[in-house]
Amino acid sequence: MMWEGVCSDKEEPSMGKVAFITGTSSGFGLLTAVVLAGKGYKVVATMRDLSKQEALLHEAARAGVDADALIETVRLDVTDSEEVARVVADAIARYGAIDVLVNNAGFALGGFVEEVPLEDWRQQMETNFFGLIAVTKEVLPSMRERGSGTIVNIGSVSGRIAFPGYAPYAASKFAVEGFSESLRHEMAPFGVRIVLVEPGAYRTAIWGKGIAAIRTSEASPYAGPMKAMMSYSQRAAETAPDPREVAELVGRIADARSPRLRYALGRGSALLLAAKALLPWSWLEGAIRRALR
Ligand SMILES: NC(=O)c1ccc[n+]([C@@H]2O[C@H](COP(=O)([O-])OP(=O)(O)OC[C@H]3O[C@@H](n4cnc5c(N)ncnc54)[C@H](OP(=O)(O)O)[C@@H]3O)[C@@H](O)[C@H]2O)c1
Repeated sequence: MMWEGVCSDKEEPSMGKVAFITGTSSGFGLLTAVVLAGKGYKVVATMRDLSKQEALLHEAARAGVDADALIETVRLDVTDSEEVARVVADAIARYGAIDVLVNNAGFALGGFVEEVPLEDWRQQMETNFFGLIAVTKEVLPSMRERGSGTIVNIGSVSGRIAFPGYAPYAASKFAVEGFSESLRHEMAPFGVRIVLVEPGAYRTAIWGKGIAAIRTSEASPYAGPMKAMMSYSQRAAETAPDPREVAELVGRIADARSPRLRYALGRGSALLLAAKALLPWSWLEGAIRRALR
């Protein structure tokens, strides 16, 4: 894994600090909430449907974390900018600050470009990109004024290399990459750290949800490649590594004094990114096409 050893830089004590996380009803967000609470953070765990909070509370209990004391669940849909403004302001008013923001909420829209309705493209960007910007913009002023804070954006290896059948998702994650690079420059003079976590495939609900949402038909000119892409996604959903790896990495980044911009992790991610850096593009393209045939 690419990140091993790279978070060894000095850590700051986390006890009593405040973390704000989006999309904590499942997957990385849920597990990150538990990891950060386990380190002593007061966690504002947001999710768009509070009826799903049981899974988070159950995982906290399993991990021996006192959720009553350390985790507050709050309703938040990142595509609702008024709600974003209100929920962030409430959290800052109640806790005095947000020390760590984890922009995690997202989904993976699959489908071939021609067959994805424009409205679905917009929805993908609304959540994965504009939602992330909305939350970040609300949190930034207080971090800037205090001269500290860490913002962890959950990107993806799909934000570095794009695969067929996931163009909307790749576009949204490439956008998060550019946004984070710029913001890191802007915030460096104010002591605010911007970090990108770029997981490869991990075993979370995202794959099942993505496959279920794909719109295609047997008559589609893309039926063959779509089948290959769906069976790749299915395999990933079943065999990918434990998402706790990602949550634990975010926990270490949250405490790191000077984290890097990028942390790529997951099976094959390091190899893929090294191949992108070193090989002629045409070779890499050929290899991706052969793998997904
Ligand atoms: N798993 C992977 O292989 C992988 C790899 C690279 C990057 N990622 C990224 O990791 C992040 C978390 O994904 P995951 O794998 O943990 O999948 P997940 O289990 O499906 O979790 C996604 C979370 O985002 C929430 N969400 C979706 N739309 C939202 C909205 N409009 N407002 C607020 N919350 C919303 C979901 O809430 P609901 O339960 O209400 O849908 C859920 O809590 C995403 O940004 C994803 O792109 C995942």
